[in-house]
Order: sequence, then structure tokens, then C-alpha cells
Amino acid sequence: MPHTHVESAALEQRQQLAETMLREAGVMPVLTVVSVAQGLDTVRALVAGGLRTIELVLRTPAALDALAAIKDAFPDCKVGAGTVLEPAQVDAVEELGADFIVTPGVSPHLLDALVQSSLPVVPGAATPSELLALQERGIRVAKLFPVAALGGIPLLRAVAGPLPKMKLCANGGVDEASAAAYLAEPNVLCVGGSWMVPQGWIAAGDWDRVEASARKAAAIASNR
Ligand code: 3PG
Repeated sequence: MPHTHVESAALEQRQQLAETMLREAGVMPVLTVVSVAQGLDTVRALVAGGLRTIELVLRTPAALDALAAIKDAFPDCKVGAGTVLEPAQVDAVEELGADFIVTPGVSPHLLDALVQSSLPVVPGAATPSELLALQERGIRVAKLFPVAALGGIPLLRAVAGPLPKMKLCANGGVDEASAAAYLAEPNVLCVGGSWMVPQGWIAAGDWDRVEASARKAAAIASNR
């Protein structure tokens, strides 16, 4: 729980920022890169296709350097650090200039660090109890992950009843074909996924394909 009114007001302000950022994004590519150069090339293609809000996941040794380089080269992009699993990473990505933080789930220590971070945070949850635990700490913007495996749209509708304040980023198994239907749900701020940036295209340097897929995703987002 935030300790004071000042802390809870600051957290709510960061939640509003997260809400606005995700709603404006609509579709957020979840990007894994093995080098800084790969990160820069991929983001160039995403931006060319019209996507400017990106979750860069900390699943590779190059991720932190790539995050800093992308923020430097594309100052207009909103770059979130994803797959943040440990409290130390919360501080690290803040220092590197991340715009927001996304996690696949939370542990008690990670949630403490997220609540205290100065960045907008989007913690992960998979069940009503997990969403409720976030709400109890003042979090009302969360990542529902892995949404397709958990039940997809029927799950989103089911949690909307008892948890009307929670606004969600729906990730995990979302693709070009299903993105629009997820975005039509009132409790969905945005969808995230790797379908615009599959490892094969990135490894092959197939930037035209990334750009074309990003363009389609941007159209889905703007038609919501
Ligand atoms: C995430 O962390 O959001 C997922 O890795 C994205 O899921 P996807 O690869 O099924 O799109």
C-alpha cells in the first residue's frame, strides 16, 4: 500500500500516464533483440509502419543497451521495458530512460518496487485474485497475460463485472487476426504481441515485412 496520500496521489498520476500511453498506442509490439543494431533496425521499421510505443523485453543480454540506444535514436518513441522480473531491474531501466515498465506477473517484492518506481508501471496478472491484489495496492492498469491461453475475450468480459476499475493490456497469443476483437472490449486499453516482430524476420533483417506488419497493426489500432 502506498504509505501516504502524497504517495498514492503520485501512483495514481503514473497510472493515468500509463492509461493514456497504452490507449493511444492501441497495439504495442513486444520486441526481443539480440543486439543494439537489431534493436535500432527493428524500431526504425516499426516507426516507418506507424507504431511508436514499444515493449522491449529484458530477455537477452543486449536488451538494456538496446533500450538506451533506442531511446537515444528515437526520442519520439515510447519505449517500455518488458519482462521486468526483479526489483533491481526497475531501478536499472529507470536510469536508462525507459518510459514505462511492464511485467508478466508480480512477486511481493517486485510489486513493492513497482509501486515505488517513478515510472508508469503495467504489472502482469492472470486471475481475478491477482488483479484484486494489484487494485489493493493502487494499481488499476495491468497486463493480462497470457490472455489467449487464459480464456481470451470471455475472460476479459468475466473480469469486467467484478473489477470494473481495471484497465488492461491484453498480451500473449494475440495476433493480427484477433487484435481488433480484443480492442473492442471496453476494459482493453491496448493489445501487445510479437506478431509484428517475429524472431525469424528480425534475424533475417526482413525490415520490409516488419514495416508492413506494423502498418497493418497501426491501422487496426486507429480503426478501433
Ligand atoms: C509478452 O510478453 O507480452 C509476450 O511474450 C507476447 O506474447 P506473444 O509472443 O504471444 O505475442
